[in-house]
Amino acid sequence: MDQRLLEITNKLTESFKQVIKEYEMTEEEWMDALNFLTEVGKQDEFILLSDVLGLSVYVNELTHGDHRHDHATDYNVEGPLYRENAPLVDTPAQLCTIEEHDEPLVMSGQILSVDGEPIPHAIVDVWQANENGDYENEDPNQEEFNLRKRIRVDEEGNYQFTSIIPAPYEIGKGGPVGEFLKRIGRHAWRPAHIHFKIYAEGYKPLTTMLFIPNDPYIDNDSINAVKESLILDLKKTDDPEDMKKQGLDRPFFVTEFDFKLLPEESEERTSKTTNLRSKV
Ligand code: BEZ
Ligand code: FE
Repeated sequence: MDQRLLEITNKLTESFKQVIKEYEMTEEEWMDALNFLTEVGKQDEFILLSDVLGLSVYVNELTHGDHRHDHATDYNVEGPLYRENAPLVDTPAQLCTIEEHDEPLVMSGQILSVDGEPIPHAIVDVWQANENGDYENEDPNQEEFNLRKRIRVDEEGNYQFTSIIPAPYEIGKGGPVGEFLKRIGRHAWRPAHIHFKIYAEGYKPLTTMLFIPNDPYIDNDSINAVKESLILDLKKTDDPEDMKKQGLDRPFFVTEFDFKLLPEESEERTSKTTNLRSKV
């Protein structure tokens, strides 16, 4: 007998009953709700529903805790747009070709243990949307694996890649979750971000995402995933020497971010405090 499952089921049922009573929901409204959930299942949007209700991020945060005390990088959700087996390359890497309308970005940093020791054998698996906020696997105009790479770091754990500044991303436009958001007057935008998975033997894999600062949705992410510690510090450089060094023909953004990994055997959760920008 699964006692925990029984208790959770009872608690959940009680919460449902309270809401049904408070709003005097009718049988018709209840059937509407069930039909909506049926459609969500049919169109494979249950994870998306959990995302836009802020529940995916909430569970992620409770699972991985607040690692500021460990000096480890904060976790974040993977999202539905990760693809395995992106091209494996050595640092420094190129995530895409830079087109006329793009704003180039050069990002670099080090993969470190929480004690500040470089991790030379780490892999930085990175993926992002393009200048229109589109991911390669949802956009017929992009090449296979565009803006996706697995980067081998150097002997000191350093990585570097050249990419472009992504645009905000609008999720789940066509299905039941999109319709639901419209009905409750909520937008479906995510602030521009870059996803990462960092792997190294002997360390816990780190899945997280970093945010482009000053984005119009930075305080209003439709999945509520923004954490202060994960907002990048971007600087623009127009130094001709820098441009030449990076093989770029125009001013570009530069950012540095070190990722700090927890040892494999460490406790998952160091505290139950939540580190999310919004505390709802
Ligand atoms: C994303 O990060 O791209 C994403 C996350 C949750 C739902 C949809 C998209
Ligand atoms: Fe994303």
